[in-house]
Amino acid sequence: MSAKTIPVQPFDYVVFGATGDLSRRKLIPALYHRFKAGQFDERSRIIGVSRTAWDDEKMQQVARESVLAHVEKIYLDEDVLKRFSSCFSYVHNDVTNEDDWKDISDKLRDDENIVRAFYLAVSPALFAPICKYLKKKKYCDPNSRVVLEKPLGTDLASSKQINDAVAQAFCEDQIYRIDHYLGKETVQNILALRFANTMFEPIWNSAHIDHVQISVAESVGAGSRGYYDQSGALRDMVQNHILQLLCLVAMEPPSSDAPNALRDEKLKVLRALKPIVGEGLDKISVRGQYSSTRSGDVEVASYQDELPEGKHGSKTETFVALKTAIENWRWSGVPFYIRTGKRMAARVSEIVIQFREVPHSIFDHAEGVPNANKLVIRLQPDEGVKLFMMIKDPGPGGMRLREVNLNLSFAETFEERTPDAYERLLLDVIRGNQTLFMRRDELEAAWAWIDPIRSAWDNSSEAPQPYKAGTWGPTGSIALIERDGRTWHEENDY
Ligand code: BG6
Repeated sequence: MSAKTIPVQPFDYVVFGATGDLSRRKLIPALYHRFKAGQFDERSRIIGVSRTAWDDEKMQQVARESVLAHVEKIYLDEDVLKRFSSCFSYVHNDVTNEDDWKDISDKLRDDENIVRAFYLAVSPALFAPICKYLKKKKYCDPNSRVVLEKPLGTDLASSKQINDAVAQAFCEDQIYRIDHYLGKETVQNILALRFANTMFEPIWNSAHIDHVQISVAESVGAGSRGYYDQSGALRDMVQNHILQLLCLVAMEPPSSDAPNALRDEKLKVLRALKPIVGEGLDKISVRGQYSSTRSGDVEVASYQDELPEGKHGSKTETFVALKTAIENWRWSGVPFYIRTGKRMAARVSEIVIQFREVPHSIFDHAEGVPNANKLVIRLQPDEGVKLFMMIKDPGPGGMRLREVNLNLSFAETFEERTPDAYERLLLDVIRGNQTLFMRRDELEAAWAWIDPIRSAWDNSSEAPQPYKAGTWGPTGSIALIERDGRTWHEENDY
């Protein structure tokens, strides 16, 4: 069965930073897929803005090249690509200098049936001047929208500054803060799993759940990305993506899927997160940085070696593991273990709900020990859900227990391309649906929880623990969970 495609209203999407990497790798290919699916047509326009001296023709050529480079061959269609590229135009603007701003009004249509959206795929330092200018020139009206890419600040104070600057031109219900994890199919599936089934909700609490693990492991390195050294894993991954996952797992059932109903519940989780502060911080927080390793004849460089000259000695963490808790009735006493890192043994993101052991085993030890049930929600790769449970080992040889898993692999079940997160999010902006975007208070609650961890680390004389590239992180991360008599879930198919 193929996905239902409902066309969106025609739009003028103004993309600031259109010459950048995000635009080429993610935004343009995502828009191509939606165009090809018939979700919008040539009445919509995509207007690139950047300080590079391009013209419409060059923008169209780059749109074409981006599609050819980042869309799988089986989805390429020359006729579609031609029509898609013709939707693009370009304005050469240095947005840092107000005097140099060119008028973009001739690119925008004054028609209430055409949605106007401004996508800021630029450094947050430029959000304020761009929004000021958009307002001054009266480019934004109550029906237009602005999309903000991360990083939305480096701490609570700077995030407030950014939000205040954007709020000068746009109201909160016009602001779409992207966390692309919320656009991932499997992430949205957490909502379906929890709230479209009756079987999990009654046991989704401390009476039945022993602990929760959230792991986002990447095999790529980070040293060559200029921005990363200023950020580190805590700000780059935990503050946004991982906390959003945690919210979806832990929140109370919202009364509907209306944007604010959902976001109100996520906010309550963020506000109930146990602060990671004070003494004992080293027992519940671990930061690491990858060192070099040799794999056969290939030497994998350390994070330090990947950094440009002059940056050596950086204490930026490329790995984080934390133990936290949610201080409310549902989750009382249930630890949440989270970890994320670069250059890890595999690229795998998953959420593990570890249920409690049976209260009393009726089986003789020789027959096996019943392992506690476990629900694994695999976000990537091989998206799907696995329920680990015990059965009798088949055969006439008596009663022996064996662990098996019920495997709902989305690829095998649906035989459909999994859309990229941006495909959903880019068009949700046009639909005016903020459900999968972060509200200001959510963002600020997340920073308020992150800030004390960051400042404790920044004030510490200790360096991050080294871990060899291609492993599961520093030994401290293993100790963090094993100290509680638990282990990180790792499957042998990674
Ligand atoms: C980005 C981070 O937000 O997410 C990157 O800045 C990270 O460092 C990326 O690699 C991970 O996204 P995905 O979709 O590949 O899991």
